[in-house]
Amino acid sequence: METFTYKNTQISYTESGKGSALVFLHGFLENKNMWIPYEKYFSNKFRVITIDLFGHGKSENLGYIHTMEDHADMVFALLSDLRIRKATLVGHSMGGYVALAFAELYPDHLKSLVLINASSRADSEERKMNRDRAIQVVKKNAKVFISMAINNLFSDDARADLSNQIDIVRDQALETSLQGVVAALEGMKIRNDREVLLHFGPYPKMIITGKDDQIATESEILDETNGADVTTHILDCGHMAPLEKEEEIIKLLQVFIKKK
Ligand code: MLT
Repeated sequence: METFTYKNTQISYTESGKGSALVFLHGFLENKNMWIPYEKYFSNKFRVITIDLFGHGKSENLGYIHTMEDHADMVFALLSDLRIRKATLVGHSMGGYVALAFAELYPDHLKSLVLINASSRADSEERKMNRDRAIQVVKKNAKVFISMAINNLFSDDARADLSNQIDIVRDQALETSLQGVVAALEGMKIRNDREVLLHFGPYPKMIITGKDDQIATESEILDETNGADVTTHILDCGHMAPLEKEEEIIKLLQVFIKKK
């Protein structure tokens, strides 16, 4: 595990392997450990970077709101420090929103874009209100909020099949600081709509979601990719596709990256 200092904030990341850069970005309440199986697999042929976003895992908080652009600027600074000029970004959910912000801010530094369980659209008014409610609940009892939130992210099947892994994810999520949770919710709430990038971004794009995902729903993903040059896959799982469908996603990534 390595540390990078960005604006006086310690960022924890890993780097392994040689070759073209493949950067993995975790979602809300997650951390870079979720990518360990991916790192093991891809570091044979790629230079794999996994990063703890602000206020998650072992990375510190930058402020009281972590915008998707804040994270994207940090990712860009880290890649520059590592002398990586172009990378493929793979983002799960909030990590996907960060990858989209990176795509908008640094298009020349993006080789290809992979979004998993992440919509390119902004929050609806209803979701924004739900974020505000969630912030109130978190401030009252962060542990209860985190436990409930983690449970809701998995499909019913996964809850039965992956209960050990879910326990690990929950235990790690419970270590997220109150500031980190609130700053992420605030940041996601005000994120920009970036659907235009799916239609006009000049880099290869792939989107994967789960048919039971309640956040990046199948219908929304099919609608936003309609008519766009985006490789789209709907898997038989919920919002935690990287854990629920690890083997399938590794294969899809392998094929997608090879073609490019
Ligand atoms: C995530 O999994 O990163 C978040 O739940 C995404 C969201 O709330 O929009």
